Amino acid sequence: MGGFLDKIFSASYVGDLEELYMLPGGGDADPRSVDLSTSFSRNIRLKIPIASAPMDTVSEWRLAAALAMIGGIGVIHRNMSIEDQVRNAEKVKEQPPIPLESIYLLPIEPCGRALDTMRRKGLRELPIVDSNGVFRGYTRFSDLVEGCREDITPVSDFIHSGRSFALEEAGEAYRYTARGEADLVAIIDKGGRYLGSLTIDGVMDDINPALDHKGRLVVAAAINPMDMERARKLSRVVDALVSDVAHYQNRDIIRASTRLVKETSSDFIAGNIGTPEAALEAVSHVERIDGFRVGVGGGSICTTPSVSGIFSPTLWAVASVRDALDASNIRIPIIADGGLRSPSDISKILALGASSAMLGYMLAGTDEAPPDLVEVSGKLYKPYRGMASYTSMLRRYSIDRYSRSSKNVPEGVGGLVPYRGPLRNIIREIVESLRISMGYVGARNIEDLWVKARFIRAPRKRVIGDDEYRTV
Ligand code: XMP
Repeated sequence: MGGFLDKIFSASYVGDLEELYMLPGGGDADPRSVDLSTSFSRNIRLKIPIASAPMDTVSEWRLAAALAMIGGIGVIHRNMSIEDQVRNAEKVKEQPPIPLESIYLLPIEPCGRALDTMRRKGLRELPIVDSNGVFRGYTRFSDLVEGCREDITPVSDFIHSGRSFALEEAGEAYRYTARGEADLVAIIDKGGRYLGSLTIDGVMDDINPALDHKGRLVVAAAINPMDMERARKLSRVVDALVSDVAHYQNRDIIRASTRLVKETSSDFIAGNIGTPEAALEAVSHVERIDGFRVGVGGGSICTTPSVSGIFSPTLWAVASVRDALDASNIRIPIIADGGLRSPSDISKILALGASSAMLGYMLAGTDEAPPDLVEVSGKLYKPYRGMASYTSMLRRYSIDRYSRSSKNVPEGVGGLVPYRGPLRNIIREIVESLRISMGYVGARNIEDLWVKARFIRAPRKRVIGDDEYRTV
């Protein structure tokens, strides 16, 4: 025995992400053209490096579909029955992989009404769809303004052919609309039937949906590796099974994973792990690990560090796991999970070796998150809670989230987060911020960022409005 003092003095200190900054670098990276695509896992490519945390106040099918639609991936939580979780995943797969609105006219509608609709919606073209649901072409604002003298003339007199897109060409439709070539395009199925309109409002610059090899939105689902029935059923639908246990480095869980990867075909993400040793132990036992979910105790709603004294800050966990994997030439992508509070936190954690960032807090206030809005003193909020919080544990299916034994002690808390509007608002903010960071560093893509980012540690930068500055 002995060596206890040494344990204290040899312990590394790792500061907060807030006190770590990237230095500007040289090069010709243009923020507008940096490539944000990344690997979520070995076989899943994303257009943006964002995943949603599998939590019951964040990730059900609506948020997962909306996130995949703009290039990320949602991980459906497992605080529900197997059937419900499978259904949630199926719903994501059933969504058209682009945000479609039902905006069209029947051929018999009067041209006056068409003009009204176009003025109201600010559109230059509207699709014409016949009573069998078949797309017939477009009517153009310019033609109607010229030719629609009698308000009752049917729009069928003003039909023009125009570019429509098959569902499989969703990415191209996105780019076409984003380039401003049209402010609306019709999306059709193989039989020429109208599925919906993609409008300029539904398009975000340069962001494409993340799709599987069949052209459907990608989706992942949380599982406990010991719950083989859930894993097997979900594996038929989802692209990835994401291990959702607080402490993955456990003999029984690892043993269960070895069986799981033999009996399922979706990508398997192991986690959560907090040390390089856990990563190496996992790869030495489990035949196929397609991704690591890294970080223990860092979540904004997480009380594990104060309850148990255990904490592997995401910043340290990600960097040390990446280093260990690289040293062994193992190219498994890392998902950084827990404690990411701002777009710049995401840039920094990616620069430290993560391939993507998993977000709970940052997405919980969006329209697509499951809880209803709450109004307090005239301000809008959404509830957000840890999956091992008391109220979440009251629900049957989370019993094993943070323990397989008898733990009745909550390891999470809940609260209200400010309402943030549609998911695409916050994602747009993150994407813009990533582009700016990468432009400063001089990185053209995420792997380039790993190589080029240099860091400096400094106290949190204060600005006017902080306590240290007084304004008159
Ligand atoms: P953020 O910081 O994005 O973190 O809100 C989300 C991550 O936190 C983890 N999580 C928990 N950790 N007790 C914990 O110790 C909990 O009740 C809890 N619920 C979620 C999880 O890894 C999630 O992705």
